[in-house]
Amino acid sequence: MTNSNLSPDKRESGWAARLVVTLSFLAAAISAQAQPPANSGPVALVVHDRQAGPTISRDIFGQFAEHLGTGIYGGVWVGEDSDIPNVRGMRTDVVSALRALRVPNVRWPGGCFADEYHWRDGIGPRAQRPVTLNPNWGGVTESNHFGTHEFFDFVEQIGSEAFVSVNVATGSPQEAASWLEYMTATQPTNLVRERTANGRERPYNIRFLGLGNETWGCGGAMTAAHYVEEMKSYARFARNFNPAQTGANAMRRIAVGPDGQSTAYTEAVMEAWKNKVWSWDIEGLSLHFYTVGGWPPRYNSFQFGEREYAALIADTLTLDRLIRTHAEIMDRHDPEKRVGLYVDEWGVWLAPLPDTNPGFLAQQNTMRDAVIAALNLNIFARHADRVRGANIAQMVNVLQAMILTDGPRMVLTPTYHVFHMYLPFQNATFVPLELDAGTYTQGDVTLPRLDAVAARDAEGALWLAVTNLDPERAAQVDIDVDGMDVASASGQVLTAPRVDAHNTFDAAETVRPREISVQARGGALRLDLPGKSVTVVRLNGTR
Ligand code: AHR
Repeated sequence: MTNSNLSPDKRESGWAARLVVTLSFLAAAISAQAQPPANSGPVALVVHDRQAGPTISRDIFGQFAEHLGTGIYGGVWVGEDSDIPNVRGMRTDVVSALRALRVPNVRWPGGCFADEYHWRDGIGPRAQRPVTLNPNWGGVTESNHFGTHEFFDFVEQIGSEAFVSVNVATGSPQEAASWLEYMTATQPTNLVRERTANGRERPYNIRFLGLGNETWGCGGAMTAAHYVEEMKSYARFARNFNPAQTGANAMRRIAVGPDGQSTAYTEAVMEAWKNKVWSWDIEGLSLHFYTVGGWPPRYNSFQFGEREYAALIADTLTLDRLIRTHAEIMDRHDPEKRVGLYVDEWGVWLAPLPDTNPGFLAQQNTMRDAVIAALNLNIFARHADRVRGANIAQMVNVLQAMILTDGPRMVLTPTYHVFHMYLPFQNATFVPLELDAGTYTQGDVTLPRLDAVAARDAEGALWLAVTNLDPERAAQVDIDVDGMDVASASGQVLTAPRVDAHNTFDAAETVRPREISVQARGGALRLDLPGKSVTVVRLNGTR
């Protein structure tokens, strides 16, 4: 949705979310008053290495690339004739930075854009493709030069997989079915011949298929009951014919799910799934959650202070309760947890940068966003039993981006660095921990001071990620691992002098991770965590 045209739904759910935050702060503030001032000495953190939780799916590190602003055009696609170095039109600097992130999947073409996208506009010789409008995002023209073949080329260049959203709002089950046949079939049908003539003989691999986008809002403002009836047809007829996509490699269908606190979609989709007949199925339910601090987005993306920092961190932490709410409903209908929850849009949504088209959703990315990214990833990891995927909004130049570009120039954001630091958590096994988190108070906002997750990777190495939310006070954390004599920790820390510190094209390394290595002394391992920092370390020792 455009930030000037937000649905009442979204505004109401924003208010509801803020009420929950306010109430929880009141509760936290009252309990904080009742306690002596804490947080001065070292903090105890115990990792229960003997216990194993669920796998943290690498799909929670998914990305989202919508036809919006310069997210695709300029950010990813510059065209084969551009002076900017590119491979078949994809800029090489961006591709190489994304390859290093091992992006598991990319959601495309939207978002609200997908609700009006017709795939035939984006195939065939580029010079003959129609020029259409992008009414959702700035009312600009859409060249359709980045279409199906370009998307899959991009995904393959960065070593990722496709998450394709079909158009349920202004499309039809037939249009979606034809697109799927075009992309995935192998028999010599007319559509497969057309794909081959357009340059691709082998079928494409589609990891996820989104059955619509925000059909409660920009995708048609449908009631949950109406959507469920539509969704069944798409789940039935948008078939994947790729012979390689069977068993564990089968395409997962993701139904539209809740808008924030409203549980109507969760109840309706899960109820229908529980009572479904053989002819349709889904493997996932979508949830969209933005850190925004109230609609329309008004928080600055740079030049802000600690008050704005704390307010948006508080908003982020409401995601945990939100996931619990929807997971409880899913548990009732699906106790075996066969349907995953996919937070396929998340991130911080801020006021547009001055002198930009407000429909382009261009914003800076600061140390605050890095902390917010880490907190979101920690929440997903703690809910790994149900949360099987997530897609940050968005990949390049839009909202909480990994990468910003300006003509030939590119800069990596603090959020990019967090995703890079968290690589060891991809498909790792969740390991429970106990942490005396303490509190951090700013004005009337009280938050946990620390947040942490631990996981064991496929080689058995133990990893710990700790965020110090307090922007001013460093924390010392004494680490004890149940089941291991810890000898050392090594990894990276990301911090910055100010909460609004960010990287620019002229100063690209203001916020960047630095290496750390700590030895245990007398059998104890102490980590020093600077204020407003994200630290990821490998814990070394003998088990
Ligand atoms: O990410 C920007 C927009 O936010 C998406 O297009 C839409 O699905 C959501 O409202």
